Amino acid sequence: MDVKFTIRDLSLASEGRRKIDWVIPRMQVLNKVREEFEKEQPFAGKKVVICLHLEAKTAYLAQVIKAGGAEVTVVASNPLSTQDDVVAALVASGIGAHAWYNASDEEYNAHLQLALDTEPDFIIDDGGDLVSTIHTTRPELLKNVKGGAEETTTGVLRLHSMARDGVLKFPMIAVNDAQCKFLFDNRYGTGQSVWDGIMRTTNLVVAGKTAVVAGYGWCGKGVALRAKGLGAKVIICEINPIKANEALMDGFDVMPMAEAAKYGDFFITVTGNMNVINKEHFHLMKSGAIMCNAGHFDVEVNVAQLKEIAVSERAARTNITEYALPNGHLLYVLAEGRLVNLAAGDGHPAEVMDMTFALQALSLEYVALNYDKLSPQVYQVNTEIDERVAMIKLQSLGLSIDKLTKEQEAYLGSWSAEA
Ligand SMILES: NC(=O)c1ccc[n+]([C@@H]2O[C@H](COP(=O)([O-])OP(=O)(O)OC[C@H]3O[C@@H](n4cnc5c(N)ncnc54)[C@H](O)[C@@H]3O)[C@@H](O)[C@H]2O)c1
Repeated sequence: MDVKFTIRDLSLASEGRRKIDWVIPRMQVLNKVREEFEKEQPFAGKKVVICLHLEAKTAYLAQVIKAGGAEVTVVASNPLSTQDDVVAALVASGIGAHAWYNASDEEYNAHLQLALDTEPDFIIDDGGDLVSTIHTTRPELLKNVKGGAEETTTGVLRLHSMARDGVLKFPMIAVNDAQCKFLFDNRYGTGQSVWDGIMRTTNLVVAGKTAVVAGYGWCGKGVALRAKGLGAKVIICEINPIKANEALMDGFDVMPMAEAAKYGDFFITVTGNMNVINKEHFHLMKSGAIMCNAGHFDVEVNVAQLKEIAVSERAARTNITEYALPNGHLLYVLAEGRLVNLAAGDGHPAEVMDMTFALQALSLEYVALNYDKLSPQVYQVNTEIDERVAMIKLQSLGLSIDKLTKEQEAYLGSWSAEA
């Protein structure tokens, strides 16, 4: 196969290979899936484009899909999360790649187009850029796409909008909505990797400080939980009264951003929404406040407004921009307001991505085996796949669980008052 690529530097492949080698033994569920794919070849003769954060765990997923017989091409789902050495290692292993770290918007879009030039049969997307691009700019390719799978909350929301408007042209599986995804990846994965990103970027103490977390969804719960574990006082900002009550009962303070802005040392947005921290909040913040985002797009902290009101700006440290306000306060934004755990870190731990990417691989196999029975809609991950991933994960840890006895099964299935 003729491998096509647009990458920074192929000579970085050996360092990328070492990063991939580190995660493989730690992704036992995906290893099991790879063994099955090698035998069964579910993607034989098919072309797959994968649009994800291009780091070591994703690289291994791409290799597992290739082991299932596919011709695979990868492209970035975010310009700041691509690791050039990992991408080089993928090309060296026979996988097409169009991506480099810090691509401009123009380059990022050109890379998406190059990946689409392969005329994919199946796609894996993260955030919906690939699906949206193919529908809006390459409609002639739509007939070839048999379906795909979407990784994250924001992408699933976009897919639902497309399906509602009747424009989605192929079936997509909402991997994000599987229990083995959001309970572990969004919650514990984001919780750990966001604080890893903040701490390695700032090299500052968290204990005793105030962390303001905007959004108490699956990701926000993880970020707040780990902030508490690190010794921070945690304030939650929400728009949903039920989530706000949940945060309260979990032991956190709850208040609107206009109030929390005065107290925060760290601000983390994780809502999937835009302009969560704005001009009116910047003016209230303490000097030294640090803002970052862990939601999918870089629209949660209004960096454009911060630039407008700042009297000066400078790079304070790698991945930290300092803004001086007219009142003399210095405010800091990490990784330009892009996903802090990926743009200023290595993303979620391998053991967490093991479950997510096993769901991705098995969901794509499900589409490959069933696409003629599926319509252009958003589908949930099959419960059997979800439970299978959970069970393989336990087995890989050497753990087992109880089984229902016949008597218990009958008891749970009966409705009469008699036992
Ligand atoms: N950083 C990562 O690695 C990572 C991992 C998974 C998901 N994500 C992304 O993180 C975002 C959140 O995902 P999730 O799974 O937690 O979603 P979710 O739907 O479970 O939670 C989002 C929460 O934000 C709240 N919210 C919305 N607008 C708000 C506002 N203006 N102010 C305060 N709260 C607001 C909602 O009420 C909701 O409770 C999405 O963009 C998702 O794609 C990032």
